[in-house]
Amino acid sequence: MDGDELRWRPPVILLIPILLCCIFIFYVDVFQLTTLNISSTFKLPPPRFLGYVEDNNLNDYLIKTEGCRIPYMDPLDPSIVEFITNEKQVLCNKNKPPLFKSNLTSLHVIDSSLKYYKIHNESALECCYTVFKRVVPNFKENDNKVEYGECLPFYRDVNIDDEFVKVSCTYKSKQIYTDFFSFVPIKPTLTTQYSDSTSLLNVLVIGLDAVSRVNLHRQMPKTVQVLKEMEAVEFLGYNKVADNTFPNLIPILTGLSENELAETCWRSINDRFDNCSFIWKNFSRKNYATAFGEDSAWMGMFNYAKFGFTVQPTDYFWDPFNYRSEKEIGNQHKMNVYQCVGSREVYKVLLEYIEKFVLRMRQSNIPFFGFFWGSSLSHDYLNKPKLGDEHYANFFGDLVRNGILKNTVLLFISDHGIRWGGIRATFQGRMEERLPFLFMVLPSEYRENHHLAYSNLKRNARRLITPFDLHETIKDLLNPYALTQNFINSRAENRDGDVRGYSLFELIPSNRTCLSANIASHWCTCQESTKIDNNSNIAVETGAFAIDYLNNKLSGYAECAKLALANVHNIHEHSTKEQFIHGKSYYLDYTIVFETVPGNGIFEATIRKHVKNGENTSYFNVTGTISRINLYGSQSLCMTEFHIKLYCYCV
Ligand SMILES: *[C@@H]1O[C@H](CO)[C@@H](O)[C@H](O)[C@H]1NC(C)=O
Ligand SMILES: *[C@@H]1O[C@H](CO)[C@@H](O)[C@H](O)[C@H]1NC(C)=O
Ligand SMILES: *[C@@H]1O[C@H](CO)[C@@H](O)[C@H](O)[C@H]1NC(C)=O
Ligand SMILES: *[C@@H]1O[C@H](CO)[C@@H](O)[C@H](O)[C@H]1NC(C)=O
Ligand SMILES: *[C@@H]1O[C@H](CO)[C@@H](O)[C@H](O)[C@H]1NC(C)=O
Ligand SMILES: *[C@@H]1O[C@H](CO)[C@@H](O)[C@H](O)[C@H]1NC(C)=O
Ligand SMILES: *[C@@H]1O[C@H](CO)[C@@H](O)[C@H](O)[C@H]1NC(C)=O
Ligand SMILES: *[C@@H]1O[C@H](CO)[C@@H](O)[C@H](O)[C@H]1NC(C)=O
Repeated sequence: MDGDELRWRPPVILLIPILLCCIFIFYVDVFQLTTLNISSTFKLPPPRFLGYVEDNNLNDYLIKTEGCRIPYMDPLDPSIVEFITNEKQVLCNKNKPPLFKSNLTSLHVIDSSLKYYKIHNESALECCYTVFKRVVPNFKENDNKVEYGECLPFYRDVNIDDEFVKVSCTYKSKQIYTDFFSFVPIKPTLTTQYSDSTSLLNVLVIGLDAVSRVNLHRQMPKTVQVLKEMEAVEFLGYNKVADNTFPNLIPILTGLSENELAETCWRSINDRFDNCSFIWKNFSRKNYATAFGEDSAWMGMFNYAKFGFTVQPTDYFWDPFNYRSEKEIGNQHKMNVYQCVGSREVYKVLLEYIEKFVLRMRQSNIPFFGFFWGSSLSHDYLNKPKLGDEHYANFFGDLVRNGILKNTVLLFISDHGIRWGGIRATFQGRMEERLPFLFMVLPSEYRENHHLAYSNLKRNARRLITPFDLHETIKDLLNPYALTQNFINSRAENRDGDVRGYSLFELIPSNRTCLSANIASHWCTCQESTKIDNNSNIAVETGAFAIDYLNNKLSGYAECAKLALANVHNIHEHSTKEQFIHGKSYYLDYTIVFETVPGNGIFEATIRKHVKNGENTSYFNVTGTISRINLYGSQSLCMTEFHIKLYCYCV
């Protein structure tokens, strides 16, 4: 039936408001698009500080609150596009496939691989596997010791009840294959009587080293898309609090700064970390299974120029496995990392282990806390994360599709952006370095039943936050079902002034500044700044101070050359809200980028000039630490003290 004629037709006059509305929507749409495209130049306002109000027109700002403004950054801003290139796919073992693969419980031969190993008579293939375990290191030994059992022969496939195995095969008496596999057997110490409990949430933290939030969008759009589909909350104002991995993760895991850790449980660089209050210990006390694992473990968080642990820190500790496998079958070494172990990319091996861990715990109804950190994909290259996009996207997608994330809070995080290279000479590169990505996914039932916690979390996406907040948030996850509206409100009401760390389930105050959040000026991304002359007096003064500061640090080390200022690349003056609050005295912060000789190191320092009004006296301090923004490479091979390595030019 031709029913059109029977429909009610609106009088033409009624169409006018509809039309206007459409034009408006179109206009807003297009307008937003253009703002996204053109807001990319960093014309920072002149240095003045007004009480900013939070509003919803955030296209020009990631964060726009009373205490902090962070400008919007275009992933393909003209100032940085020249650094965005394509990296080559990694070919592990010259593209020869692995001969064996593993599932949750066993190893089996891959028939299609036999030909690559020229195996024509399978009866002449002889394989055996060796179980290996971490052993407690002796005094002064590095924490990377393992012991091997005897090699147990098997044919085609074998059930594995142990954690770590090494597989070796000979064919016609010639060694043709070595590989490493990790498994997740249930440890006898774990309690397994949990019913699928609704009083606990699992916590899974997955880290990807040295990727800024903006670089994640640039490099891993598919992964970002999957996270969006998982209804992840993406935090736009996650500001790092120190230079590199260790001092940015310590606050998450302990709630302490690196210095505080050194005062409480890690008194000397030769100490191990056993006595520190890692958050996983609290989960362990609640009968959670705990896991910690890193790839590139040789430079792992607790191992790089450090001594690790005496007793393994968590129920499942993957580092020794990674260390041994990279040592024996690592290949495609680039810069600081092995990209492959045998025929597999290292980051994929880590993700496979994470999946096994989560699956195993879920199958046995054991609540878990897992903290995993991947560096092998992303540590030294701005553009390598792209090579892992598809795989990460599938990994997260699989977790969802297999229902593995039920009752699980997922945190996908980084520690900082890329810390050196061409992009670091740009304003955007400097900002990105300080703003790593952070995504958080809450289970849907939880979101539905904890409205305030969830809505605060979403609002905090547009607030200035730090790793200290992440610690408080994870602490809250020890008792997630206590986070009712009453609890959250009364905790906030009972606060007496600002604190360093807020749980993200509570609304972060809009007047939070870098100062009140304990972010040193050097790492702060809330500042507005103006460029000043290279040759100005202040450039000379701050340059000289920075050089003195460096030489002072190096003074105890005869192996390092004394540095001299070659030239100042640029200098910016910052405007902060706090600078005039001290009555007669005030301070001004300057970020100076300068080059030194010998060695042509390029450094970035934020120097604070304190001025006592009326007295004409002033003095300087370094805020945060001094960043090295070009590679030191082999220049500092003589130096093992990791704080000094950045600065040392070995004579
Ligand atoms: C693992 O593989 C073995 C051998 O192919 C198979 O018998 C077993 O069912 C598999 N286990 C799982 C959990 O997939
Ligand atoms: C295959 O290898 C087995 C064991 O080494 C040997 O006994 C057998 O003769 C070989 N078969 C062929 C066809 O070479
Ligand atoms: C941990 O503390 C105990 C008791 O205070 C001390 O005996 C031990 O040496 C400490 N361990 C480490 C690794 O620092
Ligand atoms: C976590 O454990 C530490 C001791 O390691 C304890 O001091 C702290 O209060 C615990 N935190 C929570 C939130 O339970
Ligand atoms: C923010 O406001 C609260 C409440 O008015 C106040 O206690 C706090 O000192 C303020 N913080 C900053 C950094 O201004
Ligand atoms: C500052 O120094 C840089 C690098 O040496 C140079 O390119 C630039 O022109 C200088 N700017 C001024 C204002 O002197
Ligand atoms: C303070 O410095 C200004 C300019 O540098 C100078 O003119 C003035 O005489 C100084 N005052 C005193 C008390 O030193
Ligand atoms: C800043 O410099 C002054 C004068 O040199 C010094 O007394 C003070 O301890 C320094 N402050 C910090 C936080 O380093």
